[in-house]
Amino acid sequence: MRKGILSIAAASILALGSLAACGDDSGSDTGSGDNGGGKTPKIGVILPDSASSDRWETADRKYLEEAFKAAGVQFDIQNAQGDKNTFQTLADQMITNGATVLMIVNLDSGTGKAVLDKAKSQGVATIDYDRLTLGGSAEYYVSFDNVAVGKLQGEGLVNCLTTMNAQKPVVAELNGSQTDNNATLFKQGYDSVLQPKYDAGDYQKGPDQWVPDWNNTQAGTIFEQMLTQTGGKINGVLAANDGLGNAVISILKKNKLNGKVPVTGQDATVQGLQNILAGDQCMTVYKAIKKEADAAAELAIGLAKGEKKATSQTVKDPEGGRDVPSVLLTPVAITKDNVKDVVADGFVTKEELCTGSFAAACTQAGIS
Ligand code: BGC
Repeated sequence: MRKGILSIAAASILALGSLAACGDDSGSDTGSGDNGGGKTPKIGVILPDSASSDRWETADRKYLEEAFKAAGVQFDIQNAQGDKNTFQTLADQMITNGATVLMIVNLDSGTGKAVLDKAKSQGVATIDYDRLTLGGSAEYYVSFDNVAVGKLQGEGLVNCLTTMNAQKPVVAELNGSQTDNNATLFKQGYDSVLQPKYDAGDYQKGPDQWVPDWNNTQAGTIFEQMLTQTGGKINGVLAANDGLGNAVISILKKNKLNGKVPVTGQDATVQGLQNILAGDQCMTVYKAIKKEADAAAELAIGLAKGEKKATSQTVKDPEGGRDVPSVLLTPVAITKDNVKDVVADGFVTKEELCTGSFAAACTQAGIS
């Protein structure tokens, strides 16, 4: 897996290399004349919330800030805290305050599209960060291969169920928010692994539900109902991220089933990794967000200077039919065996992970 993480780094350097190599001046930017014909970069970023995953405030904000600071550009990073009106207000304020590029993580495609279209009409270039806005108009989409994320989750769950020698296990699915295109892609990925197992009768399909807004608290309620509904007969849980996974684990703990029912996750949060070390979570997916932030920042800075850098990939927007120039990074599956790689990559520190009762498990997992 070490190799996996290193190859992500290599892939992204390649991607960035090709961006830099293919950069060209579109000449379409009228500019304010204060930066060699281009505008002075001023980049606005709107993050979605801070409750659906730790990543937005602990990783994305930090890495984006670092990238903008290193490039010496002005920036403003705000968080909509899950509120669509706030999201639109923040976008309006950023445009009024002279943003030359707007980078968004949409809360849903409808409001995302409205914000992108408005920015475009005012000459502000846009980037879809992490989530594609369906029917939108962003110049770029920067994310991970999200179907691959889901595949890793499906395969991870299968590995855990196989190790436990589970016979015809009932698998429950807790999907992310139905308004997040990524949640659709994750499901596409894990269902491509699980559906053939259901079809062959090797696994039994249990309850399958979307969690509105990725709400972790609601996920606990939903899973508790699933457990009641099935008379406690759930043998494996595909939870779409670490927050949902932790909600499931809390309910399993209440029923003394934690550690007996494998649960998946995503984002390699401290909590998710600790749940893995404790044996309560089967796996998580590590997405090297530094690479995502660096790639997005580089494209944003280019746009602000009036350059339309080329990307090596495109993604088809299924709603608008556009081929959106994209950077898609590679996710990595994390189990107890390679939790140490996430620490070695600098994504979480030993100090935050190996607290109190986790110290022994950390030593055992080779985290020194
Ligand atoms: C992101 C995940 C995150 C989820 C909830 C998705 O769009 O790709 O990393 O866990 O949103 O915030």
